[in-house]
Amino acid sequence: SDEEMKRRIRIIKQKLGAQLYILGHHYQKDEVYKFADAVGDSLQLSQMAAENKKAAYIVFCGVHFMAETADILTMSNQRVVLPDMRAGCSMADMANIEQTEKAWPILQSLFGDTIIPLTYVNSTAEIKAFVGKHHGATVTSSNAKEVVQWAFSKKQRILFLPDQHLGRNTAYELGVPLSEMAIWDPIENELVFDGDIEDVKIILWKGHCSVHENFTLKNIEHVRKAHPNMNIIVHPECTHDVVQHSDYAGSTKYIMETIEQAPSGSEWAIGTEMNLVNRLIHAHDDKKVISLNPYMCPCLTMNRIDLPHLLWSLEMIDKGTPINEIKVESEVAELAQKALNNMLAMV
Ligand code: 13P
Ligand code: SF4
Repeated sequence: SDEEMKRRIRIIKQKLGAQLYILGHHYQKDEVYKFADAVGDSLQLSQMAAENKKAAYIVFCGVHFMAETADILTMSNQRVVLPDMRAGCSMADMANIEQTEKAWPILQSLFGDTIIPLTYVNSTAEIKAFVGKHHGATVTSSNAKEVVQWAFSKKQRILFLPDQHLGRNTAYELGVPLSEMAIWDPIENELVFDGDIEDVKIILWKGHCSVHENFTLKNIEHVRKAHPNMNIIVHPECTHDVVQHSDYAGSTKYIMETIEQAPSGSEWAIGTEMNLVNRLIHAHDDKKVISLNPYMCPCLTMNRIDLPHLLWSLEMIDKGTPINEIKVESEVAELAQKALNNMLAMV
């Protein structure tokens, strides 16, 4: 039963003490989130993993790219475990290294040495390594603006992987018009741009988050009609139209802080992952909080980490036979770390 699983998790946690460090992303299910020693958005979690020098085992309740990042940033004797290997990220899977290695020479032939690559942390370690090798940086939704500004101070153009929406929304906020944004289509292996190629400032990899794309202009119209006093706040992985028609847009951390600081009685429709929205609804019963999309939008891969998988991973650690260890090959890790360090130096 759930109660029995929770009891066994508590016993193992107590037994292993500081040897074990459980990290939980804000999108995790409550049943798992409750057992995390530290919770956060993806940037906070990578910083906390890097700062922990005591734990022999870091159990990452999040998705695969986050566990890879933790492995890259932690000491070599610390082992990172992902409770369910199927917890991937469909966005990260939209850019693979073969596609990127094919795209780069074409972009170089079009633009010469005027491009710097940036990648959202929601990407594979190999993509981060590619970016590190070419002197770029990673970004998260909470520092995208600073990192994009940094990149423009280095080169005239940016290749932004793999989330076109975060890239577009961030560049637009910094004053780049849509007419100076091109798309890289990794399936067709071609640049999509109408106009003079010299004008291109940012090349957006054609990837997206299938959770955040579920928030639509129709949802916004409906909320505006049904609840005229409601504020709409969305994550920048939502489409440009949705971000433009919302009142506020920002990272997971920004959304949480905004709702926490909002006055009692205020009304909020939130466009982000379901577990976080539900948590905010319950934590703020003095405010009216709803999901922007009434059907709620779960990240199915995040949700694969559940009580049975958490217990299983802890029991295997306790027995000295850990499963689902995430180990990034050292050559890849070294280059990926460069890209991560370039970002971490800015925040
Ligand atoms: P942040 O935690 O950086 O806001 O990212 C959101 C997300 O989609 C994680 O996959
Ligand atoms: Fe990936 Fe989107 Fe899920 Fe985040 S919410 S892990 S970007 S699929």
